[in-house]
This record gives sequence, C-alpha cells and structure tokens, in this order.
Amino acid sequence: MPQVHFTEEKATMLATLYGRALDARRDRPVLGDTAADDAVRRIDYDFTKLGVTRDSSVSVAIRAKAIDDLAAEYLHAHPDAIVLHLGCGMDTRADRLDPPPAVSWFDVDYPEVVALRREIYPPHENRTAIGSSVTDFAWLDRVPSDRPVLVVAEGLTMYLTPADGAELVRRIVGKFPEGQLVFDIFSTLGIKAQKLNPVVRRAKATLHWGIDDPHELECHGVRLVSSLDATEWVSDEAFARLPAASKLALRVTGLIPAVRRMGRIARWEF
Ligand SMILES: C[S@@+](CC[C@H](N)C(=O)[O-])C[C@H]1O[C@@H](n2cnc3c(N)ncnc32)[C@H](O)[C@@H]1O
Repeated sequence: MPQVHFTEEKATMLATLYGRALDARRDRPVLGDTAADDAVRRIDYDFTKLGVTRDSSVSVAIRAKAIDDLAAEYLHAHPDAIVLHLGCGMDTRADRLDPPPAVSWFDVDYPEVVALRREIYPPHENRTAIGSSVTDFAWLDRVPSDRPVLVVAEGLTMYLTPADGAELVRRIVGKFPEGQLVFDIFSTLGIKAQKLNPVVRRAKATLHWGIDDPHELECHGVRLVSSLDATEWVSDEAFARLPAASKLALRVTGLIPAVRRMGRIARWEF
C-alpha cells in the first residue's frame, strides 16, 4: 500500500478524494464515485484527519457533479476535443465522463501527485498524466494544439497567484484555436476567510487568487459564458439527495449574497 506524505496544497487533494469516497458510501450518493472509494482504501493514510465530515463531503460531490455536467456538455458538442484537467489530484473525472474515443485527455498536477496516480490507477490509451506545476509552462509543449480544448480546473485557481493564473489563461488562449475553460473560483472574501475552511487550515495550505467578478478574466482573451454561485450549481436532483443539515446550510447560504458568491463555477470561451 503506498504511504503518502503530502503537505499544503498537495494535501488538499486527499480531502477532496475522501469527500468523493464518503459520498460514494452514502445510500443515495450525489456523485457515486466508487473509484474514489477504492483509491482511499488502497492508500495508507489517515484520511479522518483532513477535516472532511460525512456532511461536508456532500459539497465536494455536488461541486464535482456540477463541473462534470458542464464538461460533458462540451464533449458532447466537441467529441474530438483535447481536455486539460488541471490540478487533477486523484480525481478520476475521465472515468466518470467516459469521453468519446477521439478525445485526448491530459491530467496535470505536481510530479508527486502524478506519481501517486500512477501507483493507484491503471494506464489508459487516450489519457496522459503530466507531472508539473501548471505554472511551469513547458508542460504545454507536450500537448497537441490542433483541436478545440476543454480546460477543467476544480479546486485549483485559488491556490495560484493572480499573476500566474492570468498567465495560464493567456498561454492557453494563445495555444489553441478555440476552447472553453471551466473553473471554480473563490471571491476575495473567500480568500480572506480561508482560515475558516477546515481542509485548507489542516493542510496548512494558502489561498491567493480571489475573483469577485468572473468578467475579470475577459482582459486575458476569454468571454464569460456562465457563472453559478454556491446555491445555483446544486441541481434539483442533487438537492433531493442532501442530508437535512446540508439542505438547511444551503438555504441559509442562499440568503446572504456575499456568502453565496464566495465560491462560483464559471465557464469562459475563446
Ligand atoms: C483541492 S485539490 C483538488 C484536486 C482535484 N481537482 C479534486 O477535485 O479532487 C487542489 C489540487 O491542485 C493542485 N495544485 C495546486 N497548485 C498547483 C500547481 N501550481 N500546479 C499543479 N497542480 C497544482 C494540488 O496539488 C491539488 O492536487
């Protein structure tokens, strides 16, 4: 069994993996990611120390489901797309989406994270894992640029500095003919409140990039397509599956706009 010793932002991907695993163990899961549960059982690590509870795991699953739905929509319209899954952690999004065979899928995260992926998940012919910081831009040279691109980053942008995040967007826009970005983002209030986030606090990670208005990215060559706040990205189907405490928390969150908008899932095209 591989042992893991991740710190800071790399440790946070163990929390989201565990969140998906706990969701998969529920009677009525939102995401039902059994691969996450299998991975957790195969990694020698005390996942209970990460600050994820049975209730908070639901929010991880809901966010992943909302991003899966947006990604599936793009892949349906572009069945030969290139997918850049940035800050992938241990997420098996490609397994959940099961993209068409002409899709080329790239999972990108730090080398140590990608090494763990390789130990736990079997290789797949249309999928490439790249071990690099997303902001060491040489990794982009390993990706073809002749087709539309879907860039998915879940739980990543807030760990980048604003300058690095902006440069990442500009490099992607400069490389591909067209594409779509699907990112979750935190507002500046979300960044200021980072010590209230048990996962970030326990991992001793630091959040940097707050985006109050997703139009802010338009100066880097993209157009905003849609933006959902924390109450809007929960589908009716997912809401019906929530534990009572999560339903209540969501209703209360919905009453306060600044809190509701601390996290968003936004989509841009170019
Ligand atoms: C909160 S986790 C999310 C992981 C995964 N997307 C998920 O939902 O399970 C944040 C991830 O971003 C990765 N990350 C943070 N900064 C990065 C960078 N500069 N380059 C590559 N990966 C980065 C971390 O290693 C970690 O895997």
